[in-house]
Amino acid sequence: MRKIYWRQFLLLSLILTILPSFFLIFTAICHTTQENTISHIYDQEKVFFDSPQTSSIQLFTVPPRYLVVPYQEFVIRTSITCRTFKLDNPAKDSTKFHPKYSKYLRGPFPYVLPYTNITYNDIENFYTNILVNKKRDTPIIQTSFANNITFENIPYIFQQGMWHPLGITSIQRTAILVPLQNREYNAKTFLFNMHAFARRQQLTYTIILIEQASPLGHRFNKGRLYNTAINYLEKQSLNITCLVLHDADLIPEDDGNFYTCETKYPKHTTSRVRELNNKRGYIRYYEFLIGGVLLLTFDMYKTLNGFSNLYWGWGGEDDDLALRLIQQRMCIVRPIYELAIYTGLPHPRGPRNNARFGLLTWSTLRFHTDGYAQIESLTRIIDIHQTLTVTYLKLDVNPDKTLNKQSSMGNISSLLNTINVHMTSTIKTIIRTKTIKES
Ligand code: BGC
Repeated sequence: MRKIYWRQFLLLSLILTILPSFFLIFTAICHTTQENTISHIYDQEKVFFDSPQTSSIQLFTVPPRYLVVPYQEFVIRTSITCRTFKLDNPAKDSTKFHPKYSKYLRGPFPYVLPYTNITYNDIENFYTNILVNKKRDTPIIQTSFANNITFENIPYIFQQGMWHPLGITSIQRTAILVPLQNREYNAKTFLFNMHAFARRQQLTYTIILIEQASPLGHRFNKGRLYNTAINYLEKQSLNITCLVLHDADLIPEDDGNFYTCETKYPKHTTSRVRELNNKRGYIRYYEFLIGGVLLLTFDMYKTLNGFSNLYWGWGGEDDDLALRLIQQRMCIVRPIYELAIYTGLPHPRGPRNNARFGLLTWSTLRFHTDGYAQIESLTRIIDIHQTLTVTYLKLDVNPDKTLNKQSSMGNISSLLNTINVHMTSTIKTIIRTKTIKES
């Protein structure tokens, strides 16, 4: 009995010492392999130009400069706000007028919720009436479709596709771009208020609604809508200098939230949002968020290769753009919290894009092959309609009916599968845990 007991004891101690050692050695090997894979990816530019033959990743034909900004940096930089950058401080120069000096600024923006049966024609009539009556002391304001009208009659003129403040030249020529699908009432409320908002800032501006045609089964693809509309704009002779990418359900609450592009970096103005009729107060989203309202120049947009074209359904395309920003060593400028506030209009939520975390994982790989430069072959403008208050573009975002076209990165994906799970879950953590409620 005793013999057997000692044998068992020896065997057990052997197992207890050997197994953890094996485990440790095994983990160390795995870790090193993974580190190697990752550093190959991060140093990929170097690998390609210095010693292509020695690189294991070379087998998988990753084109040069794809992963220069790596996921690692994204993980470390959970903040994308520029740390040292200050918003432009414009001189008071009437040849290049900045909204900061507008005499019409009133602080809080008294937006109006129109009756639900408001039509685009009503909005057109409203602003045309103001225009026609601009010389009268008290403008005739039609109130049959909206109560509590508090908008002033600010002297404006419509010329060659843009609204101009009379007597001054705005610092920028601004296009406010609003993608939508089945959001009619939001779009009208937005349009009705945004003209008043832009005029109080004395912008030279135009508003473009970009509607996705909705055949059955087509999920919303905001990236394609923006890419197509911006591509369209670039071909017009409007000489736009500032793009405002704007969700249809967001109404700015303060006149001091200037809709001007900054010279160096994109500007994200949706720092806090409170839902209409919801007593929860403002929600402050995660720092990494650049969705909602983003202002940037054509050049900045091109540097980022615009949006990815691969995000179908709600969510992710804006986070993908944020990754592109990091990839391009850009950061985001934000107005102070007191001003960067919005009301969120209610709307039904479309289906979520469950593939978004996977797509985000490989976002930097697709940078050159998936974006603004590729948009022309992917979508078709099926209707263009212009009135005084809006340019309306209707798009078929998937004319060849092949949803979720994959890029040619399949083989790379298999190589990188080992780190996929880890990356995806970290991205989820960053995106999900950083929503902070405020009162
Ligand atoms: C989505 C973004 C969205 C954000 C705020 C994230 O989880 O990926 O697309 O803008 O939530 O709602």
